[in-house]
Amino acid sequence: MGSFVLYGPVTLRGKVEISGAKNAALPILASIPLIKGTTVLHNVPRLEDVHTMIQILRSIGVKVEWKGENTLLAINEGRCTGDVPYELVRKMRASFNILGPLTLSVGKASVAQPGGCAIGLRPVNFHIDGLEKLGFSVSISHGTVHATAPGHVDEGEVVVSFPRVSVGATEHIMTTAAGMKGLTLQINNAAQEPEIEDLQNFLNGCGARITGAGTSSLTVEGVEELQGCEYTIMYDRIEAGTYLIAAAATHGEVEVVNACSNHLGALLEVFEYMGVNFTCNENGITVKAGDVYKPVKIEVNPYPGFPTDLQPQILAMLSTVKGVSLVKENVFKSRFGHVPELNRMGASIVVEDSVAVVEGVEELTGAPVEATDLRAAAALLIAALMAKGETIISHIEHIFRGYEKVIEKFRGLGVNIVYEPRDVE
Ligand code: UD1
Repeated sequence: MGSFVLYGPVTLRGKVEISGAKNAALPILASIPLIKGTTVLHNVPRLEDVHTMIQILRSIGVKVEWKGENTLLAINEGRCTGDVPYELVRKMRASFNILGPLTLSVGKASVAQPGGCAIGLRPVNFHIDGLEKLGFSVSISHGTVHATAPGHVDEGEVVVSFPRVSVGATEHIMTTAAGMKGLTLQINNAAQEPEIEDLQNFLNGCGARITGAGTSSLTVEGVEELQGCEYTIMYDRIEAGTYLIAAAATHGEVEVVNACSNHLGALLEVFEYMGVNFTCNENGITVKAGDVYKPVKIEVNPYPGFPTDLQPQILAMLSTVKGVSLVKENVFKSRFGHVPELNRMGASIVVEDSVAVVEGVEELTGAPVEATDLRAAAALLIAALMAKGETIISHIEHIFRGYEKVIEKFRGLGVNIVYEPRDVE
């Protein structure tokens, strides 16, 4: 529980360094039960979600310790146990990705079924169907998913064609199959997110044989054993996108170091259309924002489409862009918990059938608002920077799940954020 108190409007200026990617670190850590020996990971962000995954690994018998600011050591001595405590799993959906690797390594495992969450219903049926295709028996009872690994791996090819693109299911099934010698897995309609390529590179560094990550068709040739390696995790494109939007929304000038333009194509296209000035070089992206922006139509889609994890932030920015903007959410159709809060700050946004219609207003005004999830918290922070007067964002703790040193980084850009560890009454 906690709140941010901010006074706006603020124009962001300066330089900010992006951290390692949460959504790459989590599936990499979830694969550890399958990887024998010592793994050394660099550029691991110190975030709530990463701490949760570390606790899960420790609870099943993996030794995990920090070896410096962002270097993590994981030692799997092959003595994992198969029960992951519910209290840890319920905190974070990505923990479900441990089920396949853990089951394969110990024979039988149980992981609590993730529930719904603030951004909508998030089922795991593709994960379960994929594990069954790999020969696992899976059952669900009392809210827990129980899996048993196949006694022996049938030689030959298995094809998994996902009915729709899922990042987590692609990662889960590809990781599990990597440790199944004799089997060749073909994944069709795979998610193409850069974090999947990062996972592939890491697993291949451990001895896996995976090709095709970054495209919609992946091939995994199972191997006998994966051995720990040393790997540096990619930079966080969503964190980078958030700072770029914050800079543009406040008409500021910010150098976002480690932002990768190849990974942010959909956002940069939107910027170009709207009239946000930016330059890219090998160190990152610098926004030198324009004065007046054009309204825009955006479709949120799986990568390389506009990311759902930047939808709340761009909505905050569009709320003061003169004219009508449209944002259609195709990934999590009910991910609009931030809209009523933005409207409390004076925005004029109406959601109909997963389309947000934004009528640009002259200005936002500060108000008490509540963050409903991680990216909603980032959106409200951006809105608070744009708004006139005091904004108090309660339940700000969501932001610590995904933004490393967020207070320090925004302070470095000239923002006076006061953090109240408990909600302001
Ligand atoms: C990952 C990201 C999250 C991001 C999301 C979409 C991590 C740790 N999290 O979440 O930040 O917002 O991708 O880019 O990487 N679906 C099903 N059945 C399934 C699985 C998914 O119907 O078994 C649906 C979901 O409800 C959703 C869509 O598929 O509508 C995409 O979800 P998915 O790509 O799986 O998201 P996550 O992997 O959970």
